[in-house]
Amino acid sequence: MKKKYGLLLAMLVALFMLVVPMSTQHAQAATDDSLEKIQKKGVLVMGTSPDYPPYEFQATVNGKSTVVGMDVEIGKKVAKDLGVKLKIKSMSFDSLLVALQTGKVDMVISGMNPTPARRKNVDFTHTYYQGGYEIVVNKADKGKYKDKDSFSGGTLGAQTGTTQYNAAKKQTKNTTVKGMTSNSDLILALQSHKVQGVAMEKPTAQAYVSNNKQLAALPSHFDMSSSATSSAIAFRKGSTSLVNKVNKTVDQVKKQDLVKKSYLPTAGKYLKTNTVNTSMGHYWKAFLTGIEYTLIITVCSVFFGFIIGIILALARMAKGGVLKTALRWLATAYVEFIRGTPMMVQVMFVYFGLGLFVNLPALTSGIIAISLNSGAYVAEYIRGGINSVDDGQTEAARSLGMSNGETMRYVVLPQALKNIWPSLGNEFITLIKDSSIVSIIGVTELIYQSNIVRSDTYRGVAPIVVIMVLYFILTFTASRILNYFERKMQHD
Ligand code: ARG
Repeated sequence: MKKKYGLLLAMLVALFMLVVPMSTQHAQAATDDSLEKIQKKGVLVMGTSPDYPPYEFQATVNGKSTVVGMDVEIGKKVAKDLGVKLKIKSMSFDSLLVALQTGKVDMVISGMNPTPARRKNVDFTHTYYQGGYEIVVNKADKGKYKDKDSFSGGTLGAQTGTTQYNAAKKQTKNTTVKGMTSNSDLILALQSHKVQGVAMEKPTAQAYVSNNKQLAALPSHFDMSSSATSSAIAFRKGSTSLVNKVNKTVDQVKKQDLVKKSYLPTAGKYLKTNTVNTSMGHYWKAFLTGIEYTLIITVCSVFFGFIIGIILALARMAKGGVLKTALRWLATAYVEFIRGTPMMVQVMFVYFGLGLFVNLPALTSGIIAISLNSGAYVAEYIRGGINSVDDGQTEAARSLGMSNGETMRYVVLPQALKNIWPSLGNEFITLIKDSSIVSIIGVTELIYQSNIVRSDTYRGVAPIVVIMVLYFILTFTASRILNYFERKMQHD
């Protein structure tokens, strides 16, 4: 027994030793052909976290939810000056720099401040705008608070991975700091009194306040002396030629005061259209796309998961020579490893980690990760199913002259399948719900869409209720259909 686990551990360690050095090697190999590369490619992919009006946010443009804002205007100008097309990729703020480093995006414009810690990992252009920091509170409580120092004994919210989060942690006393991945969620937390204030850049605070009569903004009095409180554009480390070129654009933007004169007013126009129609029915298209992607991911993952599951189950049951024993160990190690690590981590590993070697789109990464995950569970069901088929069946089939493979295919597996049908059905239903994890890498499934609707409408609870109902309809329908087949199989 002990030996078995020792071997398992050794295999895992070997796996890591293989993967980790490969990924660092890859990072060091970069030489500075950054400008040339982008111009050759013809597209510049901008990563941003669109929960930050007027910097970047979702608005309905010509009936379609689109990322807009002053950062998008800057992105457009940068792309234009480079002579390439701009493509925007949304993700949570704390994933942006990882996405940049792993090549998922070419630059980050997201109201990001060039802090010394960030500078260690990426290169920044000159800064283009300083908004200052403020704190959003519920208007009813406005009299109670003056600035960052008034929240002693209470809770201050800030987006995770931001400078405001760090400032709140370092520059307040006796105050709990609560981090959340999106500012829209923080505003909800504020309205439901989970936090008493939310720290963010002043223009954003003003945008939230002007969109919602129940909110008010306070000066923060955080230390603003460092240059790391203005926003700049981030590029991969070592992209000197690209950064130098883009600096020319940034300098021009600053010299002509384009942010104030042109980009902020453009963003402001979208902010107003944002408040037009916030009924959930208005967003049926977004929800429909969400359902579509949720089903695509689930169906593909169940399909591939099933195939992986059969292979793993057979490998786990292989008996005999050295090769088969090795196969069995490998399959066992795989199942144990997958079941012993969170699916969320696996999804990030496939997208960001494997992304170092092959640039997989988010949807493909999501399907791969969930299929690999599901395969491990399905393998166990199948193994159980195969074991549940009486040995006499195999013996009978063999004595009729069937080969080992034929016996498996025509006798054992069909019966096993019938026995494990309910478990497989459960797996399908679980996946409908769990596929929501891929929203973290930006796959536009149901959860992702509900987040968009949430930041688009500034309504917190309604989109949650809508997707709750939608998920239930999906799973309930699926379970009815599965039951139907189960009953049919019982009759056969
Ligand atoms: N300026 C802050 C920082 O650099 C917050 C930026 C948040 N941006 C956003 N798009 N949510 O950390």
